[in-house]
Amino acid sequence: MCGIIGYIGKDNSVERLVEGLRALEYRGYDSAGVAFFGESGELIRVKAAGRLANMEEKLKSVSGTSSSHCGIGHTRWATHGAPSDANSHPHGTAALQLVHNGIIENYAGIREELTALGYVFESDTDTEAAAKLLDWYRRTDDSLTAIARLTKRLCGSYAFGIVFAGEPDRIYAVRKDSPLIIGVGDGENFIASDITAILSRTRRYCQLDEGEIAVVKSDGITILKDGVRVEKEIKTALWDTEAAERGGFPHFMLKEIHEEPDAIKKTLGPRISGGLPDFSGEKLDAKALTEASRLHIVACGTAMHAGLIARELFNRLARIPVEVWTASEFRYCDPLVGKGDIVTIISQSGETADSLAALRLAKSKGAKTLAVVNVVGSSIAREADSVLYTLAGPEIAVASTKAYTVQTSLLALLAVDCGLRRGILSEADARALTNELSCRAPEAVGEVISRAEELKLLAGRIKDSEDLFFIGRGIDCALASEGSLKLKEISYIHSEAYAAGELKHGTISLIVPGTPVIALCTVPELVGKMVSNIREVKARGAEVIAIASDIIAEADATLTLPQIDPRLAFLPAAAALQLLAYHTSVSRGCDVDKPRNLAKSVTVE
Ligand code: F6R
Repeated sequence: MCGIIGYIGKDNSVERLVEGLRALEYRGYDSAGVAFFGESGELIRVKAAGRLANMEEKLKSVSGTSSSHCGIGHTRWATHGAPSDANSHPHGTAALQLVHNGIIENYAGIREELTALGYVFESDTDTEAAAKLLDWYRRTDDSLTAIARLTKRLCGSYAFGIVFAGEPDRIYAVRKDSPLIIGVGDGENFIASDITAILSRTRRYCQLDEGEIAVVKSDGITILKDGVRVEKEIKTALWDTEAAERGGFPHFMLKEIHEEPDAIKKTLGPRISGGLPDFSGEKLDAKALTEASRLHIVACGTAMHAGLIARELFNRLARIPVEVWTASEFRYCDPLVGKGDIVTIISQSGETADSLAALRLAKSKGAKTLAVVNVVGSSIAREADSVLYTLAGPEIAVASTKAYTVQTSLLALLAVDCGLRRGILSEADARALTNELSCRAPEAVGEVISRAEELKLLAGRIKDSEDLFFIGRGIDCALASEGSLKLKEISYIHSEAYAAGELKHGTISLIVPGTPVIALCTVPELVGKMVSNIREVKARGAEVIAIASDIIAEADATLTLPQIDPRLAFLPAAAALQLLAYHTSVSRGCDVDKPRNLAKSVTVE
C-alpha cells in the first residue's frame, strides 16, 4: 500500500527520500514521486509510474537535487486511476505539493466545486482534489489554518505530507485513519508512513494522533491540536535496520520463515512461568476471557486464517466456542456483539483499515476488545482495550509467514491458559502443552526449514499446474486455507482449500488426471477419514502430496512432519506450506516478496 517519507535536514534530501522510498518498497506500489525545494527555494516535482528506478532515472536530468534539504516522497498503490505518471503523487499546484495515503471519499464533489472555480485537474485521483482544495484555502489563509480547514472538509482516510512554496524550512503532516509517524533525528527530522522508512537514520519517533498537525523543521518538531501545542512522548523502536534487511537470504520471505523458531520463543517466553502460561504481566482481563461463553475473532487474510486455527484450539483445549469473522464482512453485517462480548482483532501491521474499523465498531457496541498485533504502537494496538504483542520483528515480505506462526502460537498458549482455568485441561496436560509449544514447536519448525531440498522437489511437482486443491479435516481444514492463500498470492497458481469430506458434494468434479491435491493429515484420529478422501481423488486421477506425521501409503508423496504433540502439528505443517509456496514461486520466476497487485499493509477498505 502507499508509502510516505519526508525529510528535512543538512543532507541531500532527494537521496534521503529515495532511501526511504526504497525501504518502503515492500509495502507494494506501482509508482513513485518526490517534491523538494531546489537551490533557490523553488518547488520541484518528479514522478513516474512503475518501479522506483524509473523515477530515479528521471531525477538524473533534474538539477538542484544536491542542494535540496527538504522534501516529501511517495510510493503509490493505485486506487483511483491507473498507475501513470500523472496519477503518481505528489499532487499540488505552484503553491504546494502534497503526498497522501488513504482515500478521500467526497473527492468527486470537491473536484466539481473546484472545477467551477477554474481549477484544472491533471489526474484521476482523489488526492488531487484534496491538494487543490488546500491550494484554494491557502489563497486566503496561512498554512496551518488552511490545513485545519482542509481536514474539516474531507471525508475518508488520510495521512498527508505537505510542503508549501516559500516555506522551505518545514514539512507539515496530518492524519486520520491512516498511520503516520514523525522521526526524530540528530539535526534532521522525518515523516513516514512506517518506521522501516527511517530505521537507517533513526529509531526515535513519535506518533501523530488524529486531530493533530505536525510542523517538522530540521531543528525541532511542533505538534498542534486546535492551535495549541501538545507534548508528545518520543519512543524508541525496538527494531533495527538489520531486522529489516535481507541478511544474505535471496528473499525476505525465506529469511522470515527462517526466523520463525526464534520468533515463537521470543513471543511465548515472557508469557510462561513455572512451566505454565502466565499472562499476568499483560493488561488482559483473564477472568472475562475464561468465563466467556464465546469469543469473536475478527481479522483479514492470513491473520483471519490464524483466527481459524485459534477457533479449533479454543474449542478443543478450552471448550470455548469462537466465531471467526472476515473484518470487511463484520463491519457491514450488523454483528450480534455487545456488552459482555470479547472481540479479538488479529493483525500483523495493526493498521489494516477493515480490522481497525471492526475494532471501532465492536467498541462502539460495548464489547471488550483484545488486539493481537505485531507492530508496537500501531492504531489497532493503541485503540484496543488490551493488546498482546507478537514479537516477530518487522515482516517485510508481502506474504505473511512469521506473523502467522507467532499469532497462532500465542493464541495456542492463551487457549491452554483458558483451558487450565476452566478445568478442561489438567495441570499436567497444560504443562506438557506449554513445553511442547515453547520448546518442541520451534525445533520442529526448524527441522522442516532444514529440509529445503525435499520441499523444492515437492514444489517441482506442482509448479506447472493451473489449479490445485488443499484438503484437510479439523484444524487441517483451517491450515488448508492458509496453504492455499500462500500459494495463490506468490505463485499465481489457482488453488482452493476444501474440507476433505466436502469435496464430493460438488467440487470433486474439478479433479481431472494430474490435478495436484495437497492432503493435510496432522490429526491422528482423522487420518483414516483422510485416507478415504485421498482414495476418492486418486480414483479420479489426482496426484496427492500428503503432509502428515507418518507416511501415507495411498499418497504419491508424503512430507513427514517432525514428531510433536499432534495438537500442535499445525506449526511445522504451516512452515511446510509456506516453504512449498515459496519454492513454487521461485521456480516459476515470480516476484516472491512483492507479488503483483498486492500491498503489505492494506490501509484502505
Ligand atoms: C497474506 C497477507 C494478508 C494479511 C492481511 C492482514 O500473506 O499478508 O492476507 O494477512 O492483509 O494484514 P494484517 O495482519 O497486517 O492486518
